[in-house]
This record gives sequence, C-alpha cells and structure tokens, in this order.
Amino acid sequence: MGTRGSNAWLLLEREERDLRVAVTGAGGFIGRRLCERLREEGHVLRLLTRHVERDARGGDEVAFWDATQPPAPSLLEGCDALVSLAGEPVAQRWTREVKERIRDSRVRGTAGLVEAMRGGGTVRTLVCASAVGYYGDAGERVLTEESPPGDDFLAQVCVAWEAEAQRAEALGARVVRLRFGVVLHPEGGVLHKVLPLFRAGVGGRLGSGRQVMSWVHREDVVSLVLFALGQLVLSGPVNATAPHPVTNAHFTHALAERLGRPALVPVPALALRLTLGEAAGAVLSSQRVLPQAATRAGFSFRFPHLEEALRHLLA
Ligand SMILES: NC(=O)c1ccc[n+]([C@@H]2O[C@H](COP(=O)([O-])OP(=O)(O)OC[C@H]3O[C@@H](n4cnc5c(N)ncnc54)[C@H](OP(=O)(O)O)[C@@H]3O)[C@@H](O)[C@H]2O)c1
Repeated sequence: MGTRGSNAWLLLEREERDLRVAVTGAGGFIGRRLCERLREEGHVLRLLTRHVERDARGGDEVAFWDATQPPAPSLLEGCDALVSLAGEPVAQRWTREVKERIRDSRVRGTAGLVEAMRGGGTVRTLVCASAVGYYGDAGERVLTEESPPGDDFLAQVCVAWEAEAQRAEALGARVVRLRFGVVLHPEGGVLHKVLPLFRAGVGGRLGSGRQVMSWVHREDVVSLVLFALGQLVLSGPVNATAPHPVTNAHFTHALAERLGRPALVPVPALALRLTLGEAAGAVLSSQRVLPQAATRAGFSFRFPHLEEALRHLLA
C-alpha cells in the first residue's frame, strides 16, 4: 500500500477507534444508549450536562453546560467530535414558556456549541440532532433530504436549529444533521407512553390513523450516529428513519397484534387537541420520510420493517 493509502487507513482508524467525543443530551433516551455504544467502541466521552454530579458517576469526563447559557470557552478543548442531542422535550403541552424552551435549548444551545468549537479548535465533526418535524405536515408526499421544510412551529425550530449547526462548516468541521424519526424503544419516547395503554387493551389509532409515521428502532438510530462519526464523506442532512414508514393505523394494528391485545379505542383528533393543545399537531402530522442519504452512503438498517422491530423490542 502506498503512503497515501496508509494515511487514509490511519485516518479512518483514528476516526473510528479512539476519539474524544463530547455529547450533549447524554442522559436522555437516545443519549444513554449512544454513550454505552461509544464506550464499547473504546472512545473517551465528555458529557456536557446540567447535572455534573449525577453524570460524573460513570467515570466519563464531565463538564457543566446548559443550552440556555453561554458555554465555558474551554468546553470542547481537546475533543475530536461533538454529538449534540440536547433539547427540551417536545411531548408536553406547549405553553408560551415551553415553546421558548423547546426553541432556545436547540437553537441557542447549538449556537453556543459552535462558538465553543471556534474557541476549542479541535472538533472536526459535529453530528447534530434534528427531527423529521423539519418537513412539517406533508401528507402522503415522499420526503427525502432534498424536500423543502414545512412552516409550522416544529419545522421552524428544526430549520433554525440546523442553520446554527451548519455554521460549524465555516470552521472547517464536517457537519451531519440527523433528522430523527419517531425513535422506538420501551425505555422512552412514544413506545414508553403508549405501551401501558395497549397492554391494558385500551390502545387505538390517533385521529384518522392515516397520518404516516416515520419510525426508527433506537438501536438503528444509535448505529447511524456512530456511522456518521466514522464516515468522513458523509455530511449535510441525513434522515434517521427506517426505510419503510407506516401509517398510524398500521402501527396501532402491528403493536396490538404483537401484544395479543385488541386496539379498539381510537383517540379522536379533537380529544388530542383538547389535551395537548398545539402539540397535538406533532402527533397528527404526517411525514413519509425515506433515509436516502444514509442508504446511499452504505448504511444498512438492522430493522427496516416495523414488525421485526416490534418483535425485537417487545421480546
Ligand atoms: N426520541 C425521539 O423519538 C426523537 C424524535 C425526533 C427528534 N428527537 C430529538 O433527538 C434529541 C434527543 O432525543 P431524546 O428522546 O433522547 O430526548 P430526551 O430523552 O428528552 O433527552 C433530552 C436531553 O436533553 C437535555 N437537555 C434538555 N434541555 C437542556 C438544556 N437546557 N441544557 C442542557 N441539556 C438539556 C436533557 O438533559 P437532562 O438530563 O439534564 O434533563 C436530556 O439529556 C432531542 O433533541 C429530540 O428533539 C428525538
């Protein structure tokens, strides 16, 4: 192998093996599993957290960071990569204050992190969370990374969030914006919320059930973050959704069938709007998203079909 080949190989080895990776949102539903996988792969972690004492117990490096405050200039010094997952939970009633927190924790938080990247000078890769909410309520339309954004509240947040992340490109960093679909695992997210109802036999479709749900198994989403860290050619928006999205009615039927329970109690759209207010829009909106960029880059999903994913998740 010539010198160029050896260098390329060494670079890949370094990218894949012994990175110092800073992570925000490490204590969350996706972050917890991501950190386990990063440790298993031998990377050194620096958790950026509001709960330094709580998060220092695991033996990782820990630094105080609150998305709504300017970061310490040394926050990212010595780090090779940053994975940013932090954000105020979206699944709650959206008061004016909650909407501000949903937006600020992502948009201001990411802006601060990019400033810290400028100061620290060592981070070469930023993998930043975003969401399929970027596309707004798109009905049956097939969405790829090239599709235009929507214009509802969540879409506007995602657009602004991604724009802040993209600023890191001017620093010479590679930026991957992962547009997560509905992440499935019983430990958190949607499945954690609906499982007790379905187990009790009082689950049902939401609204008409015709809205398309772009779901993804948590293990695949975490693998995709690791893939994004290691694939030097991957950058820009990347949909983190399984290749076979389903309607909410299909999801309801598949989940009930797997649990051997009936799903006879649909939740009318009006009831959702009364309970969740504006946030009901997020539950009722439809996005048929395809993971075009990930698939083209050679990523293969372990759980491309919902039925296999549920079988694994509920085994
Ligand atoms: N789960 C999904 O289905 C899904 C779908 C689409 C997009 N996403 C996006 O993916 C990201 C991770 O999702 P998740 O489900 O793992 O979220 P999660 O369980 O709600 O965790 C959110 C994390 O963000 C941190 N955080 C919130 N506000 C913060 C602030 N002001 N400063 C510092 N940290 C803050 C939390 O820290 P504490 O531990 O201190 O509370 C927590 O670790 C989120 O940005 C979410 O919008 C998730």
